[in-house]
Amino acid sequence: MGVGGAPVRLSLTVNGEEREADGVWEGESLLSALRDHLDLPGSKNACEQGECGSCSVYLDGELVCACLVLAAQPEGREVVTVEGLAADGELHAVQQAFVEAGAVQCGFCTPGLIVASHDLLARKPRPTDPEIREALAGNLCRCTGYEKILDAVRLAAQRLAA
Ligand code: FES
Ligand code: FES
Repeated sequence: MGVGGAPVRLSLTVNGEEREADGVWEGESLLSALRDHLDLPGSKNACEQGECGSCSVYLDGELVCACLVLAAQPEGREVVTVEGLAADGELHAVQQAFVEAGAVQCGFCTPGLIVASHDLLARKPRPTDPEIREALAGNLCRCTGYEKILDAVRLAAQRLAA
């Protein structure tokens, strides 16, 4: 996405903390603001066109592609990134399951898949395989063939239900 407009100060809540970022261009994406101005490189930039899901974050609790959200849109709102899912230095059950199931290879798609899986399991704690596939349809992985990703979501669902 090209940049444009004047630089602005962005004030928002990110992962539970009030944050400010200076020098954000109005035409920049939220993804770029997170990665380049807020030191949160977990959300990945793989397409910048809303097609791969690698940049998935929560905006006011709703799953969005951060590359499609203008940086100014989250002003005063709440963003949660993949970094915000871990608590007290411990991986979230979804993150742990991705590691254990071998669902991480190059890892480029992983942050987006983890946020999307987290969202799915919050809405549907016991998803069927078709429901998992549907929920993750917007997240592209070039490496794993998806079986291990499905295993990871099933494992996370079991652990969260226990
Ligand atoms: S980088 Fe946002 S959807 Fe691909
Ligand atoms: S693990 Fe490489 S793109 Fe998914």
